[in-house]
Parts: sequence; structure tokens; C-alpha cells
Amino acid sequence: EQEKSDYKARIKALLQQHNAVLVAHYYTDPIIQELAEETGGCVADSLEMARFGKEHPADTLIVAGVKFMGETAKILTPHKRVLMPTLEATCSLDIGCPADEFSEFCDQHPDRTVVVYANTSAAVKARADWVVTSSIALDVVEHLDKCGEKILWAPDKHLGAYVQKQTGADVLLWDGACIVHEEFKARGIEDLKALYPGAAVLVHPESPQAVVELADVVGSTSQLIQAAETLPNREFIVATDQGIFFKMQQRCPDKVFHVAPTAGSGASCRSCANCPWMAMNALDNLADVFERTDNEIFVDEALAEQAMRPLRRMLEFKK
Ligand code: 13P
Ligand code: SF4
Repeated sequence: EQEKSDYKARIKALLQQHNAVLVAHYYTDPIIQELAEETGGCVADSLEMARFGKEHPADTLIVAGVKFMGETAKILTPHKRVLMPTLEATCSLDIGCPADEFSEFCDQHPDRTVVVYANTSAAVKARADWVVTSSIALDVVEHLDKCGEKILWAPDKHLGAYVQKQTGADVLLWDGACIVHEEFKARGIEDLKALYPGAAVLVHPESPQAVVELADVVGSTSQLIQAAETLPNREFIVATDQGIFFKMQQRCPDKVFHVAPTAGSGASCRSCANCPWMAMNALDNLADVFERTDNEIFVDEALAEQAMRPLRRMLEFKK
């Protein structure tokens, strides 16, 4: 505990000294989320992280999350220094969508509007017409469908299928998945619902279709937190990374949250639903974030310029 508070004090002083702000995702360790809040930074979903980093006056952004979040921040604010606790924090969706293969896929379907999820590299974004996060994917695709456009969607097939089903749009899917959400099991959730019949089921749309079908609310991390606050239920079964429980419990101290099972049985296991890359953000690598030289985000200028367009379109679509 003493060590933790020493780290926290040191990080707070460094942030001030360097005119830097900490932008953290809801999946990071609670102690990182706490630090972001205590230092005037933000804890948010990926869309709000992008917006916050762009609008905040600090010279340096410290992005605690995964690499695509740091890259997005750098593309949107090329004049700012963007540092991350580790650049090794990637995402299975990003890994599963290499830019050269993706570009070929786009070339094969020139009649389709390319919509990519934010969980992708700068090079993949540069090839896109639109970037979306889970909180606005439905709205953007609905809009494009109304304009009569056919969609090429990458990389998350589950989110893509959900969007397709909800909007009725013509969507061609890339075959990618999130290793965390893909593990949630419908059978396990049904068993848990039998145990807690009053519980509402909250599901992130990166989960498989059978899990999404059991949901009372489907949404991005911030939308799920909001649902926990506003629904009258006292208990919840939550299918997303366990990092989110910190904020849910903070906002709703009297409610009870169960992590959705990742096994066929109803056993709930908090340590299971935990993104290994988000977990790489820790107090020690945050404390030496200004000293190292291997953790700054750089994005090729030409790529960044191309990737900025679909990203801006996303931010301007819903202010
Ligand atoms: P959100 O945009 O909902 O925060 O999701 C980001 C993410 O990586 C989900 O796994
Ligand atoms: Fe990527 Fe899944 Fe981790 Fe989110 S939880 S960063 S989608 S691997």
C-alpha cells in the first residue's frame, strides 16, 4: 500500500511538471483510473478518450489503454507528444487486420463504403472512409444505409453482425474478433440468470451473437455504465472486461455486479474477462513514462493525414 501511494504521488508530480494529462480507458487497472480522475484527466470509452485528448490543452497526453488509442490521439493532435506506459499493449482486432491484406480486400470491393472500427492501426484507418467506435457504430451505419451505401466493415465480425442486424444495411464483414469478448458463453449467462432472476444483462457488442441476444442493454463501455446507473435493477450480469466494474461500483455502490461466465457453466470468474493488453498499464511503467525513449507514439505523416479524415468525420458526426 505504501509503495502504491508513493508511486501515485510521484506520478502526480510528474504530470504537473511536464504539463501532461492522463487519459485512461475503463478497462485499465482501478488504480490507474483513480489516478486519471484525481489528476484532472479522464477515464472514458474510446470515443470519449479521443475527444478529450483532442480538446485538452496539455502539451503531452499519457494514454493508458492500448496502442490504437495512443495512435488515434497522435493522429488527431500531431503537435502534442503522446506517451504510453507501454507500446506493447495491442489488441487482437488490430493484430487480426494487417493493413496490406485489408487494403487488398478493399480493392476487391470498390463499390463499398469502408467503415473501420477504431481498434485498428493508423494504416488501416488511412484506408477507411469512416472510423467508428462501438458507441456510434449503429448511428453511422444507419446514416450510410439511408444514403443507399453498401458497407465494407472491419475488423470485428461480432460488432459488424450486430450492426448489420440492427440497421438492415448491406454489410460485408472482415473476419476479426476480440479475444476477451469472444469467450463469453450464452449457456453460462443463462445459468447465472436462473440464479439471479432479477439481474439485467449488459453486453458489449464485441461479444458473440448468442450472448448479444440475451442482453437487456447492448452498448459501448460508457453506455453500459450509464445503463447500470439508470436501470432500476439491483443486480447485473456484465459481459465485458472486468476493469469496468470499478466505475460501475463507484457510480452504483448499492448494486451488485456479476461478470458474465466465460465457461459453459454458470460460474462467474472475475479474473477471466481481463484484456491482457489493457492489464499491461501499471503504476511502475506509468511512473517512468517520461524517462524512457521507447514509449512515444509516432505516426507517419502521410498516413496520419489520411487517417485524420475518417477520424474527424467520426468526431463531427455526433458532437
Ligand atoms: P469502447 O469503445 O466501448 O470503450 O470499447 C473499446 C474496446 O476495446 C472494447 O473492447
Ligand atoms: Fe482489443 Fe478486446 Fe482488449 Fe478491447 S478488450 S483492447 S477489443 S483485445
